[in-house]
Order: sequence, then structure tokens, then C-alpha cells
Amino acid sequence: MENTGNLSQRALTNLAVTCPMRTAFLGALSSLYHATDNPAGAINLGMAQNDLICNEMLEKISSSTPLREVDLSYGDPHGSKRLRGRLAGFFNTYFNPHTPVLDNHILVTPGAGAAVYQLATVIADVDEYIMVPSPYYGTFDLDIRLNTGIRIFTVGIFHTETLSVDFVLLHRAMEKATSQGLRVKAILINNPHNPLGHREDIKLFIYFASRYNIHIIFDEVYALSTFSPFLREETNQGDHTSVRDKLAESPFCSALAVDNVPQLIDPKLVHVVYSLSKDFGLNGLRVGFIIDQYNDYLKQALILTSSFSYISTVTDRLVYNLFSDTVWIDKLIHTNLQRLAASYIRTTSFLSSHNIKFFPAQSGHFLFLDLRDDLRKRCGDIPTFSDEADLLNDLLHNGVYIAPGEGFHTVEPGFFRMTFSVEWNTLKRGLQILYHTLRSEPATHANKV
Ligand SMILES: Cc1ncc(COP(=O)(O)O)c(C=O)c1O
Repeated sequence: MENTGNLSQRALTNLAVTCPMRTAFLGALSSLYHATDNPAGAINLGMAQNDLICNEMLEKISSSTPLREVDLSYGDPHGSKRLRGRLAGFFNTYFNPHTPVLDNHILVTPGAGAAVYQLATVIADVDEYIMVPSPYYGTFDLDIRLNTGIRIFTVGIFHTETLSVDFVLLHRAMEKATSQGLRVKAILINNPHNPLGHREDIKLFIYFASRYNIHIIFDEVYALSTFSPFLREETNQGDHTSVRDKLAESPFCSALAVDNVPQLIDPKLVHVVYSLSKDFGLNGLRVGFIIDQYNDYLKQALILTSSFSYISTVTDRLVYNLFSDTVWIDKLIHTNLQRLAASYIRTTSFLSSHNIKFFPAQSGHFLFLDLRDDLRKRCGDIPTFSDEADLLNDLLHNGVYIAPGEGFHTVEPGFFRMTFSVEWNTLKRGLQILYHTLRSEPATHANKV
């Protein structure tokens, strides 16, 4: 019998949890560019990393860390009141909440992934389900399942031809699940959406959750990366509308902004997740939030367990300092949106002029590419996920990594997510490699990664 280290059954179950997104990334990792370890490595356009504001961020962080004696001691595991108060101001300014956000509506977590995990633990029990419509950001597989024994119930509801969500299919899947005795406790919606980069119709999802009396978690980590109102500015240099007016034009609507939530659903079932990883290019800082305006029990349960994993007092102070400079924050959001819009225009121009299909996006840092025709040309009429993995290997071998659709639980192979929040010279090289790989003969796959 295999020696499994005398671990708990929980740990062994964790080790068996599959996450195709992670598997693809780990498979590629040793081939990726790294400034010191692998300077000739492949360009990484497969991770949702926002590099467009890193200079501004580095400069500000370097001058924003004056600490106090108290910052060397234990902090408040769900974020200092001071920080939560400052963030309440931030959410009230940029998320247009119907009911003002207060400090006690916010819990600070070490990232959005941790926030989803923590919410899952207080919402569902072992063998219960959280519904996640696909395609979805694949790391939810880990956020929801590790340590919890919770299962994911997924259903592909996105029409690739009409670019719309099929709510009839969603309801049908839920009816079937409940008739089979599955206990679905929540639905997780990512708005704006990763990997599709569009906004979701949140009222229809709230109506759905209300009908089945389940929790609804909105992951809004790309809230302030809705660049579509800035596309006009890019093509019309005379447009100097302020960032807040621009955001008012934004197609994105936070769940916090829905005006009659208590009439639509028991508001104790609605939870919002946000983090600094994406809109502020701070993947590595590990700061996220749960915003819950109605469910005190849930907040008490979360506060109790937050002491096992929380941001340091130094990080708490740093974020407080950063968000205290509201003029700088406003300017940074504006700069980020302008750069995302500029990068989106350059990237989509390249893709269109090279006949590489993609789904137009309004938000986010990536484009979802539709390479199904390319895959068919390479492998025949009915490509498989193994053919998708072979194309990924060819791309990687030629010098670029993009994230395969299997990691997002697409229902058919041939989709890839490509990040465009990358400095243009690097991005252009990545795009050229993508184009040349798609137009060349497939390699033979002796050396799979
Ligand atoms: C939709 C979505 N949610 C959550 C995360 C994880 O965010 P964090 O770094 O704050 O844990 C990501 C990261 O790519 C994401 O795309």
C-alpha cells in the first residue's frame, strides 16, 4: 500500500482535487520567461496579471510605508477599523452602492481567492454544491473545494454564437439538480467576467438565486477594469471627461448598486468579493474583501475564522496609506483604464488583421480567443482537449503561453485566454508567435509539457 505520510483524509482528498487551469500553468511554468532563471523563456500571456500601472504602483508604494509602533503588533484579523473605514469611502465613490457601504460591512481577506474560500466554508457543507456557470475562472475549483468537501455544479450557459447567457438552460439545470436531490447552496458569478471580459446581467442572476433561495456570491475583481467607455477617448483625443463620469457611462454595474435588493431576494444571501490584485495590479500583495451589508451571522462566522489567515499589520497600514491619497487613486484608475483601452485596441487590431477570432470584451485584462477553426485545420473535424493541449505545447515551444479553454471548463475545445495588460513590445512579440504558430504545421508531440 502506498505510504501517504499518515495524513488526514481531508489532506488526501485535497490532493485529489483537480484544477485543469493550475495543471496547465504548472506544466508550462518551467518554460516561462523569468528575468534571472529563464531569460530566454516563453512570454507569459496566460496569467491575469496587470503590468500596465506597475511603475506608478512601485513609486507610490515606495513612498507610502511610514509605519507606527502599533503596526508591529497583532492586528485585527478582518482588517483594522481604520482601513475598513477608508475602503468604505472607496466603495462608495466607485461602486455606486444603493445603500452606503460602512466599515462594518467589510471584511479584509488575503485576496479574492481566500474570500471565495472563506465564504464557501460558511455557506455550504460537505457534499453540498456551489453552482458556477462555465466558462469560469478555473482556480475557483480550488477556492471552493479545498478543505471543504463542497462540490462544484457547473453548467455551460454561454452561447458562443450569440455571445449571450442562456438562462433557460440555467433554470433547467437547477430543476434537474434539485429533482436528483443535489443540495445546491449558492451560485458564484464573476462580474465582469473572466475569461469573457463582459458584464453579466446581475438582476437575472439575483432573480435566479431568489427563486431557489440560494446564496449568490458576486466576484467583482475586475470592477474598475471596464475600459469600454475609454475606447472612445482613445480614438478621440479631445475627450477629457473625468474618470467618475466615465465610470457612470460604464456598462459594469456592481451588485452593491442594485437599487431594490431586499425586494428581489433575501439580502442576507447576497455577498460581494473584491480585491486589489487586478484593478490595482497588486496580485502579490494579497489583499481582498468581502462586502456584506445584511448578514451579521455570516460576518460573525467569518470573523471567527479569519484569525487563521489574514493580512499583516504592515500591509494593513500600507493599503490604508495608499487609499488615503484619493487624488492619486482617482488618477491611477483613470490611467489604468486609458492604458487598458489602448492595449485592447492595439491587440484587437492585430488579431482582426491576422484573422484570429476573439470575443469582443468590455472589461478585464484578457481576450477569449476562438481558435476552433484553427484547431480543426490542424487536427480534423472533431478536435479534442488533447488537440487543444497539443496546440498549447506548440505555442509554448515557439515562445508564448496562453491559457487553454479546458482550464475554464469550456464545453468544447479550441478556446484560449490571452492577456493584453502587458507592455506593447512584449505583447506584440507574443501575438506574432501566436500568428505564426497558427499558420504553421503542427509539431509532432514527443515532448509534451
Ligand atoms: C475572477 C477572479 N477571481 C479571483 C481571482 C484571484 O484573485 P486574488 O489574487 O485576489 O486572490 C482572480 C485571479 O485571476 C480572478 O480572475
